[in-house]
Amino acid sequence: VIEDVRARMILDSRGNPTVEAEVVTRSGFGRAAAPAGASKGLHEAIELRDGGKEFNGKGVSRAVYNVNNIIAPRLRGLDSRKQRLIDFIMCQLDGTPNKSRLGANAIVAVSLAVAKAAADTAGVPLYEYLGGAGGTFILPAPLLNIINGGAHAGNELTFQEFMIVPVGADTFAEAIRIAAEVYHMLKQVLKDRYGAIAVNVGDEGGYAPPMKSNREALDALREAVSRAGYTPGNEVLFALDAAASHFYDTEKNVYIVDDRPLTRDELLEYYVSLVNEYPIASIEDPFYEEDFEAHAELTRRIGNRVLIVGDDLYVTNLERLKKGIEHGASNAALLKVNQIGTLTEAMDYARAAMYNGMRVIVSHRSGETEDTTISHIAVGLRAGFIKTGAPARGERTAKYNELLRIEEELAGDAIYAGKLAYKGLVY
Ligand code: PGA
Ligand code: ZN
Repeated sequence: VIEDVRARMILDSRGNPTVEAEVVTRSGFGRAAAPAGASKGLHEAIELRDGGKEFNGKGVSRAVYNVNNIIAPRLRGLDSRKQRLIDFIMCQLDGTPNKSRLGANAIVAVSLAVAKAAADTAGVPLYEYLGGAGGTFILPAPLLNIINGGAHAGNELTFQEFMIVPVGADTFAEAIRIAAEVYHMLKQVLKDRYGAIAVNVGDEGGYAPPMKSNREALDALREAVSRAGYTPGNEVLFALDAAASHFYDTEKNVYIVDDRPLTRDELLEYYVSLVNEYPIASIEDPFYEEDFEAHAELTRRIGNRVLIVGDDLYVTNLERLKKGIEHGASNAALLKVNQIGTLTEAMDYARAAMYNGMRVIVSHRSGETEDTTISHIAVGLRAGFIKTGAPARGERTAKYNELLRIEEELAGDAIYAGKLAYKGLVY
């Protein structure tokens, strides 16, 4: 039974305020924090910010107030295991389609804290509480963002994220070792080629080198993987988050890629050529977030060997996902709980995606905290993938480190998704 719900303001990894919620039951406790995006989808649930002078308008005192004074009184006395009911009550209290009254940042922090309190009360780890005991757990293949561009870095790279996926490992721990080795080798590669300025890092802990073209970034990844002693396309695959809405000119109807305007068809051919040149295993948000048909065309064209991933396209929203399924817009779906606002809605979305044959990639946001809930969600869902930044910076490593602990705790009872995650695609 929930005895108390409370919230406070804490700082996120960009130094902006965010909401942390705590839920206390008779014998358990849960704490969770809301992350925040920088390159948000148009259709995301709304973060409530104070406006005004404090924190440059980004204060969350209204969201904190809403937890303490509107949500808390309604949740006290309820069974913390009734996640669906609790999430429903919060949606009702909010009463808007995009959670703009109470704030998705308020609601998501409470929703996640409720699940953690329920797991703690039951005396089981969160991943087991969410995924059920029995059956084999899967440790997700990590997509590690080691070159940052787009809205996450002060450079000229068009694509937002250049990631490595260490699939050729037997365990999650080994995958992290490979990733860390490549990350350090990349630092050397960038220093050699661009000088010391190139190893400054972006929002997600990846380097933010002064590069001009996407191919330059992919070439650097390839060199780093090889010089670290691995074979690109074998142990290590590449993944991209284009975040194309952010380089799409809605008026001229063109995409500005590496300073050149491309039509949607030209951009599609550009992706096909990149996939032929580099061992790219997945491309997230390749087109403008309203253009389901362009996504579908790309999926028809290369979906048999590459994951086409909807992030801004779906915003963890079941209705958007359904539309994507109708169009055949992608073969994978990104999951960010704060895009929709409650754990229940996010889990329904993930299950619907899986049921329809899509891969699910559990994801962080560019603004994060030390919160590790997404590690548990990935394992609980038996998702094939997690994307949570570089193997560096505390708010990123917190998630990877929690997965290392979970793998150790499951001691041989879990499988590392690795190559299996891409089975039927690149393998
Ligand atoms: P965001 O970006 O968290 O800044 O929105 C992450 C992503 O696009 O995947
Ligand atoms: Zn994205």
